[in-house]
Amino acid sequence: MSPNAAIFSLHEKSDLAESLAQKLATTVSVVKIHRFPDNESCVRIVPGDVKQTCIVIASLNNPDPAGLPLVFLSETLREYGAERVILVAPYLAYMRQDQRFREGEGITARYFARLVSSYFDALITVDPHLHRIHNLQEVYSIPTQVIHAAPVVADWIRINVNQPLLIGPDIESAQWVRALAGQINVPFMVLEKVRHGDRDVDVSVPEVQKWLHHVPVLFDDIISTGRTMIETIGHLKRAGMAAPLCIGIHGLFAGQAYHDLIGAGAANVVTTNTIKHATNRIDLAAPIASAIREVL
Ligand code: R5P
Repeated sequence: MSPNAAIFSLHEKSDLAESLAQKLATTVSVVKIHRFPDNESCVRIVPGDVKQTCIVIASLNNPDPAGLPLVFLSETLREYGAERVILVAPYLAYMRQDQRFREGEGITARYFARLVSSYFDALITVDPHLHRIHNLQEVYSIPTQVIHAAPVVADWIRINVNQPLLIGPDIESAQWVRALAGQINVPFMVLEKVRHGDRDVDVSVPEVQKWLHHVPVLFDDIISTGRTMIETIGHLKRAGMAAPLCIGIHGLFAGQAYHDLIGAGAANVVTTNTIKHATNRIDLAAPIASAIREVL
């Protein structure tokens, strides 16, 4: 990596940050976040590690507690001489509230984008949840680079699954499922989902009779409560299909979601390492490292 650049990790134990640093032939400078008894936070860096360009690695799966330390970190790095602070957020939060669903709500995707854009000079992320916002540049005013997990996920499926049938549980997942199916030349279908509440979703009944000898692979960008996949698993079971493999790019696993998925009949659950979790099987360090090299 350029001698004028350094990597900082917002999270003390980040395997992804370590692996990125290894690929970029550098080391990670860990940021200490002190929580005061009243819950305020103070970030502390190693001043000697600051370079002209500082790359901050921070997955934003827990965005509210991470938000202020992120802002403080950017300011601290600049005060110690950084001229460019680049955020690498493998999981980018606050993309789903992309419109006002109910009168009186805020459109947090826009506000969060404005906040990040005012503290960072560029953003690198993996498959953000783009739905009604078609392009990050519609809401981010800094340069953004999006890495697509599909080629790496496609390789994983090719090696690990015999005769897959890819299933996207909703229209938003169509973009990813179509790309994946094209890359490994396998059949796919996209279902329809209606969400009634955070944990209350209906998914349309899939027509799977002609695919009964295939392995169903449910694929979604985000697994949060798991309800979307659990609903779909129920339909597949009733249709007589084999237990499905569930793959998510970003495994948020709110509460007991992972156990609920297994309990509902998922044969296995697999995620990429944008968010650290026991289901991480698909390593995106290589494409993220290339994106960082490009930005540098
Ligand atoms: C939203 O449409 C996303 O693509 C996912 O389908 C959604 O976030 C999954 O959420 P949950 O696991 O809570 O059903």
